Amino acid sequence: MLIAQLTDLHIGEGRRLAYRKVDTAGALEKAVAHVMAMVPRPDVVLFTGDIGDLGSRDEYALVAEILTKLTIPYFMVPGNHDRRGPLRAAFPYATPVRADTGFVNYVVDDFPLRLIALDTLDEGKPGGVLGKTQLDWLRDVLLDGDGRDCAIFMHHPPIVTGIAHMDAQNLGAGAEELAAIVSVHRDRIKAIFCGHVHRPIHTIWAGVPLMIGPSVAHQVAFDLRADGPSAFVMEPPAMHLHVWDAGQHSLMTHLAYLDRYDGPHPFFGPDGKLIV
Ligand SMILES: [Fe+2]
Ligand SMILES: [Fe+2]
Repeated sequence: MLIAQLTDLHIGEGRRLAYRKVDTAGALEKAVAHVMAMVPRPDVVLFTGDIGDLGSRDEYALVAEILTKLTIPYFMVPGNHDRRGPLRAAFPYATPVRADTGFVNYVVDDFPLRLIALDTLDEGKPGGVLGKTQLDWLRDVLLDGDGRDCAIFMHHPPIVTGIAHMDAQNLGAGAEELAAIVSVHRDRIKAIFCGHVHRPIHTIWAGVPLMIGPSVAHQVAFDLRADGPSAFVMEPPAMHLHVWDAGQHSLMTHLAYLDRYDGPHPFFGPDGKLIV
């Protein structure tokens, strides 16, 4: 089973450039074209938040128009730049909430790996929270799954990455409680997929692999200084491709670039000969 994770689209109304520089709508079009051209093609796409930039209906209408070319199943969780109401209205099939708790929490049981969507949005604020409703809901679905292997996908990472201006807006309240729940079920939670930091970052958290996916549009500058300013860079847009092997109960994550950049520069040709 192949899971493509596309994150932090930041689509602006009328194809508005993000930061007056980044063609995020064009970046999403390229990402969709890339996914659709892949052989083998991913089974499902997970959008881990910041679908829109301001969370308006017009932004989501533009996303929906671009995603008409994405003809494989896809699912979404909101990020801090999203608004639940307009997001759910535009993408009911990609946010299949069963019991309406007011949050975009749901489970996808259609694939060999169970996918659990967890809503960390604290609407209007940059940082994320998990309140009692979401934590109780997660506890229940983890007890419910007949012991099936699963992955959780959510926007805000519950970790300190070292990129200070992003750590200031990570998952705050509820992170400790989440760690306790995840730890209990660590044998069958195969991974947690997050967005928000716009960079590929990997760690083990609460006994489980946790990966932050790179943005399909623009990246956050790599800067581990404690007083590093908020800064963005145009590194190659990319995605994570998660490969789930149900027979081996193993998950592997690849980084795949989505657009042209100064490279790649092969030094072995297709005939196996060294290029000098
Ligand atoms: Fe973002
Ligand atoms: Fe975000």
